[in-house]
Amino acid sequence: MRTPLIAGNWKMNKTASEAVRFTRELVQQPLSTSAIDVVIAPPFTALAAVRDSLGPAPAIGLGAQNLHWEDHGAYTGEISAPMLKDLGCRYVILGHSERRAQFGEQDDLIHKKLLAALKHELKPILCVGESLSERESGTTAEVIEQQLNGCLAGFEPARLTNLIIAYEPVWAIGTGKAATPEQAAEVHQLIRRALTAGWSASVAASTRILYGGSVTPQNVEGFLASPDIDGALVGGACLQVDSFATIARLAQKQTGH
Ligand code: 13P
Repeated sequence: MRTPLIAGNWKMNKTASEAVRFTRELVQQPLSTSAIDVVIAPPFTALAAVRDSLGPAPAIGLGAQNLHWEDHGAYTGEISAPMLKDLGCRYVILGHSERRAQFGEQDDLIHKKLLAALKHELKPILCVGESLSERESGTTAEVIEQQLNGCLAGFEPARLTNLIIAYEPVWAIGTGKAATPEQAAEVHQLIRRALTAGWSASVAASTRILYGGSVTPQNVEGFLASPDIDGALVGGACLQVDSFATIARLAQKQTGH
């Protein structure tokens, strides 16, 4: 059984003080996480403060939005997996389309980051997704398979037990134009087939695949109703306590708990 996961990618939003106010409010929400995982991924600068605000036995997991593949060294401005672990992170978002498009990240580099995350027992949330022109030209499947094969090349299936994948169609991110649950489910199924073909049926069965792209409290239930959609990676709607908590509550409700 795959535990549903609702993750909030804050992107470059909230100062540390704003993050503390947000987190204190969030932990006071009536929100049960008995049947789902909830994760927030603030900017690096707010991780320590958010960890402290989550308290000693947090029901909400902490994630980062990126890492450097080396543990330490002469990499000015970068942050490593051991540094994130030390701050209490358990998850890290890798290969987000904004990093691919604006910072030139390619599959081979994301592969190195995945290696570092797994080595340090951070659960990677690997983002894949096609652009609008790729969808319109009918190459979605090819693009997604290429991203998976490039990022996950050479991994033994046993190394991938902590892997989480987020399908984030680039055209749905920040646009208010979410994919339909049918469009998302189709790609999630193709991701599972690719995982079976490239790694193993057990990797395909156990990997959580999230949908991301204009997820809101209004549309999240439609996604979660699909057996192949194991949760959501939320951008804009995770920045307000109300909407993020509502999304998490709806996910919890869907499990029957
Ligand atoms: P939006 O929810 O703002 O579309 O962002 C999605 C996203 O990029 C999450 O990683």
